[in-house]
Order: sequence, then C-alpha cells, then structure tokens
Amino acid sequence: MPTSNWLKQEFHYGYDSGNILTPIPNLTRWREERRIGGSYRNVFLKAIKPYLQENSRVLELGAGLGAWSRTILQYIPQGSLHTIDYQDVSEWLKPNQYEGRLICHQVNDNSASCLPENYFDFFWSMGVLCHNNVGDIEEILKNILSKMKVGGFAVHQYSDWEKLEKYGWKRGGVPLEFKQKPDDEIWWVRNNQSTMSALAESLGWEVISPDLNLVKRDSIIVLKRGE
Ligand SMILES: C[S@@+](CC[C@H](N)C(=O)[O-])C[C@H]1O[C@@H](n2cnc3c(N)ncnc32)[C@H](O)[C@@H]1O
Repeated sequence: MPTSNWLKQEFHYGYDSGNILTPIPNLTRWREERRIGGSYRNVFLKAIKPYLQENSRVLELGAGLGAWSRTILQYIPQGSLHTIDYQDVSEWLKPNQYEGRLICHQVNDNSASCLPENYFDFFWSMGVLCHNNVGDIEEILKNILSKMKVGGFAVHQYSDWEKLEKYGWKRGGVPLEFKQKPDDEIWWVRNNQSTMSALAESLGWEVISPDLNLVKRDSIIVLKRGE
C-alpha cells in the first residue's frame, strides 16, 4: 500500500504525544521520548517558542490529538493556529473553545489549497514528515511556501536514517527490516539532512539549519521564506 494511503487511515484514533511542557512527562510522552532520544519540553522551548509572538499566525501540519497544538495556543493569545490533517481533528481539538483562534482543516492531499496566501509567521510539524515519502514532502514544502509571509519560519521533525543508524533501530522503535523494503512499503521513510536540505533549497526555502540537534534519533530542520 502506498505510504500516503496508509497515512490517511492509520491515525484515525487521534495520535497523542502527551503533556509537552510539564517538567515530568506523563507515560505517553515518556515512551515517545525514550524512542526519539530527547525531551519534548526542550523541543518546544528551543524549536517552537523562539518563533512565537503573542499575535503569531501559526500553521501546524498533522496535529493529531493536538498535544503540540494546545501548547502552541497558550503562547499566541492574540494570534491564531491553523491545522491541516487527513483526520478531522476538530473532534479532539474543539476549535469552538478558542473564539476563532483555532481553525482545523481536514485535507485529502498536499495541495494546501484551503490556506490563505502570504499569511503564516510559523509552520510546524512533529511526527509527520517522518511518515511522508520524499515526493510528498516535496509537494508539502512547495505548496506551503507561498502561504508563508516573507521572513516566516518553518520547523519540522523528519526521519534521518544516518542518525537512526547511530542511535539504534531497536532503540528508536523502527523495524530493522525496513532497510530491505522500498519507501512505499514502510512508515519510516529514507531521508537525511543532505536530502532534506537540498529539497527545501530547490523549492526556494532558505535552510537556516538542517538539524537543531535536540533529539538523537531524528533531525529537526529550520527553514525560512526569504525575500
Ligand atoms: C503520528 S501523528 C502525529 C500527531 C502530532 N503531531 C503529535 O506529534 O502528537 C501524524 C498526524 O499527521 C497526519 N498527517 C500525516 N501526513 C499528513 C499529510 N501529508 N497531510 C495531512 N496530514 C498528515 C496524520 O493524519 C496524523 O494525524
């Protein structure tokens, strides 16, 4: 089954990453942090918070149950958050409780056609690009670029098979047999810092950093919409 079709079905239950900011993680977050090799609190404080102003307009790809979304909303009291997901996340995120500050779009492709142009200050995802084939990542980054304000930033976690190899497949929770399978048959796609940076650059993004070095298994890229 192509990975994009698998993705559309797999997370129907609402994927949860737990309580992102509490100094002591709950069990859900603790399990994830063991696999990724890093602290979600630290990721939020170093990879998201520095890019947020009180009135920021934020776009999140793949909100799932909304662990990161709810945390972002706390930091943009005069701003807004748009989410795009294959799932209808509004049943979990309850946008009617945010007085118009949270807009949840359910999508069926990577066209981003539901989003306004030149609008967002910050574009974020966690646990999403690692499951999307490089061709899909290309579509996403290409179609979102014009949705960003000039000078807007994007920060995304993605799979990095070079880091994974050093960190350990078993420790990272990724089946070793994926090495023998094509990308369309696995849920942890082949990617690394040079592939991701070259792709983003070819589409017109400025690569600020291919990896923030906040987690050991994956990379987290920082991009900017330049002039
Ligand atoms: C593993 S969950 C991660 C949820 C959340 N970001 C977290 O870390 O807790 C991935 C989510 O991204 C969504 N998703 C994956 N690829 C997507 C794409 N290309 N377009 C829209 N949604 C996507 C899935 O439907 C799912 O809800």
